[in-house]
Amino acid sequence: VKDVGILAMDIYFPPNCVLQEELETHDGVSKGKYTIGLGQDSMAFCTEVEDVISMSLTVVKTLLKNYNIDPKCIGRLEVGSETVIDKSKSIKTWLMQIFEECGNTDIEGVDSSNACYGGTAALFNCVNWAESNSWDGRYGLVVCTDSAVYAEGPARPTGGAAAIAMLIGPNAPISLESKFRGSHMAHVYDFYKPDLASEYPVVDGKLSQTCYLMALDSCYKTFCKRYEKIEGKPFSIVDADSFVFHSPYNKLVQKSFARLYYNDFLRNCSIVDKDSREKLEPYLGLSSEESYQSRDLEVCQQVAKPLYDTKVQPTTLIPKQLGNMYTASLYAAFASVVHNKHDALVGQRIVMFSYGSGMTSTMFSFKINEGQHPFSLTNIASILDISNKLESRHVVPPKKFVEALKLMEHRYGAKDFVTSQDTRLLVPGTYYLTHVDSMYRRFYAVK
Ligand code: ACO
Repeated sequence: VKDVGILAMDIYFPPNCVLQEELETHDGVSKGKYTIGLGQDSMAFCTEVEDVISMSLTVVKTLLKNYNIDPKCIGRLEVGSETVIDKSKSIKTWLMQIFEECGNTDIEGVDSSNACYGGTAALFNCVNWAESNSWDGRYGLVVCTDSAVYAEGPARPTGGAAAIAMLIGPNAPISLESKFRGSHMAHVYDFYKPDLASEYPVVDGKLSQTCYLMALDSCYKTFCKRYEKIEGKPFSIVDADSFVFHSPYNKLVQKSFARLYYNDFLRNCSIVDKDSREKLEPYLGLSSEESYQSRDLEVCQQVAKPLYDTKVQPTTLIPKQLGNMYTASLYAAFASVVHNKHDALVGQRIVMFSYGSGMTSTMFSFKINEGQHPFSLTNIASILDISNKLESRHVVPPKKFVEALKLMEHRYGAKDFVTSQDTRLLVPGTYYLTHVDSMYRRFYAVK
């Protein structure tokens, strides 16, 4: 089998969003803190009728329908999520309903979870399966689904929600260059969910930012080493057309790309021109620890800006609009570049950086190929239908957003309740939660 990777994609996100500008006023923080300081425009969130299960049911159903895929042709289904609902019962088992109906219960795979990394683990599992001796010729399906909510405080504006489904198989328009890869995995308490009675994480924000950048450096170094060993020449940011980052908020993405540029500067790569080299020279002596904290190193963001505009900016649309979608965040950033450039990407290399707190991270790359209808970039972009989906969202005032989160705090882990079943904003075909019975069993309906 050749060119195993992503054949098709679809995305679902809730129809409600809150504007970051309005949230700044509501929270009483300085103007620009969320919009410029974090670089975010708006944030999607689930109301009480939606959750990670309903979003994943919706996106799987629409992917199969939009690409005309027979559910019997799915042989592996992997879910990446860090939103805990039934703990030992995976979200994957919920999705089996769609396949059981067609008599297909022969589907391997369960959920993968480690903060925002689960989707990448699920993707690698599916790709490895399709490249292995246990592959039976059917498609794999990867689903990333998360609702990111934080307690009141500085982390709250970095929430978000979405679900993404990706069909996996050979001869893909988006194939993995499996030989180029770099991972960094270690033990750290930067973000975790020890309180099982609450949906909110415990987060050390500053530590999580440093961990993210340290992991990025480490993955990039390994990725470059692998590349050089195989290709016989050094890798620098000139060797990829786009860089897609896990996006908790846009400012961290700007810093991340500058960090790769800084690495290239330290490695003496020719991409760093004379002018930029002179600007960065004073920081040659910084220890890596100092370099994570140094304000002055922001000069790196400035010198990398023209390259950021071509190689990163087209990947930022959905994450800036929806916020951190945890496992779906990286793939929503990838969907943004497909939306913005579709068939102009053929022949290009796209580098992906996946980060999950705690911590797990991998840098890997995609090669973009022609693909055959319906599995072409142009068709994927048209099915993703990003502009329409973003434009038809409903802007909710911050007060309503806070009320929705309050209600969900009570509902989390609760039993014996009926939801409002208010589906006015949902598009037809969307799954929604109707009630939870005395045995904590959940019930969904389709609008
Ligand atoms: N105008 C412009 N910029 C401003 C303004 C303003 N009025 N006010 C603040 N800023 C800038 C700050 O200078 C800072 O920029 P910098 O990072 O370049 O220094 C930025 O806005 C954020 O301000 P801080 O004061 O650092 O924000 P705070 O500490 O209150 O919260 C944080 C930020 C830590 C990211 C918080 O939102 C958080 O904990 N989020 C969740 C954790 C997270 O997302 N971590 C990322 C990786 S792990 C993961 O994916 C979950």
